[in-house]
Amino acid sequence: MSHKRIAIVTGASSGMGKLLAEGLPQHCALEEIWLVARSEQRLFALGEELPVPARIFPVDLTREGCLAPLRAQLAEEAPDVRVLINAGGFGKFERFDRIAEEDAAGMVDLNCRALTLLMHAVLPYCGAGSIVVNIASVAAFQPVPFAAEYAATKAYVLALSRAVDRELRPRKVRVLAVCPYWTKTAFFDRANRESVITRFDCMYDPAFIAEKTFRAMKKKKDYVVPGFVAKATHMMTKLLPHSLVMKVFIAQQKLKNK
Ligand SMILES: NC(=O)c1ccc[n+]([C@@H]2O[C@H](COP(=O)([O-])OP(=O)(O)OC[C@H]3O[C@@H](n4cnc5c(N)ncnc54)[C@H](OP(=O)(O)O)[C@@H]3O)[C@@H](O)[C@H]2O)c1
Repeated sequence: MSHKRIAIVTGASSGMGKLLAEGLPQHCALEEIWLVARSEQRLFALGEELPVPARIFPVDLTREGCLAPLRAQLAEEAPDVRVLINAGGFGKFERFDRIAEEDAAGMVDLNCRALTLLMHAVLPYCGAGSIVVNIASVAAFQPVPFAAEYAATKAYVLALSRAVDRELRPRKVRVLAVCPYWTKTAFFDRANRESVITRFDCMYDPAFIAEKTFRAMKKKKDYVVPGFVAKATHMMTKLLPHSLVMKVFIAQQKLKNK
């Protein structure tokens, strides 16, 4: 029996996840795409547009037991998962002690826990040549005051992705962490509503990040930092002491003295 070749994309209702889901059929032969996010209508609308059949999983990934429907479908059909993209995520830019408890828990639950459990649930269905793409951030490379917890969750994503990539090499399954700089998406409606960060020096187009992601998926990299400004920031965090890099970040904060 041949197993259906599928991709699973979280965060597919918006931003980078949506663009990656839209572009995937041009980059790999798929028979179905499974779309995951909370906004059912948006997932249906995207599913209608895709050139391959889509299956919709309208779930809040921070809820206990939220992966049960997806796990059940995997167990029933044993598909060949060619691609898993974890693009569901959010951040709150605020002094840590001012972040609402729900958001403090939510960032860890979505950015770390859900991503981990999805990888764990899906990897048994990944054969040679499959790839897991986890959207981390340039924030993953150093502590970031006023985005402290968000950056810490992305450091987790980067470290997990790179190490699991090494572990899975004998199986020929790859894990790629994508580390974008600021990118123009709905992310900021949630992250920075109170305008804690006042100067976004550069904003990338999410289509550019998606294109660089597809390119990196074809190479043997375990992480990619798309774009010149992103690469320069990454380099700065490698060369300079983190205490100095944090000073630069703090200079961007409106609330630094409050
Ligand atoms: N934008 C940036 O500057 C930037 C930079 C570096 C990294 N990133 C990372 O890139 C990834 C994609 O973000 P984006 O910029 O494309 O932002 P976005 O447009 O806000 O997309 C976030 C996605 O996550 C989903 N999501 C949020 N909460 C969820 C929940 N509780 N359960 C299930 N799904 C949930 C959203 O769908 P629903 O609301 O429909 O649930 C949406 O599809 C995130 O991991 C983000 O941390 C963003």
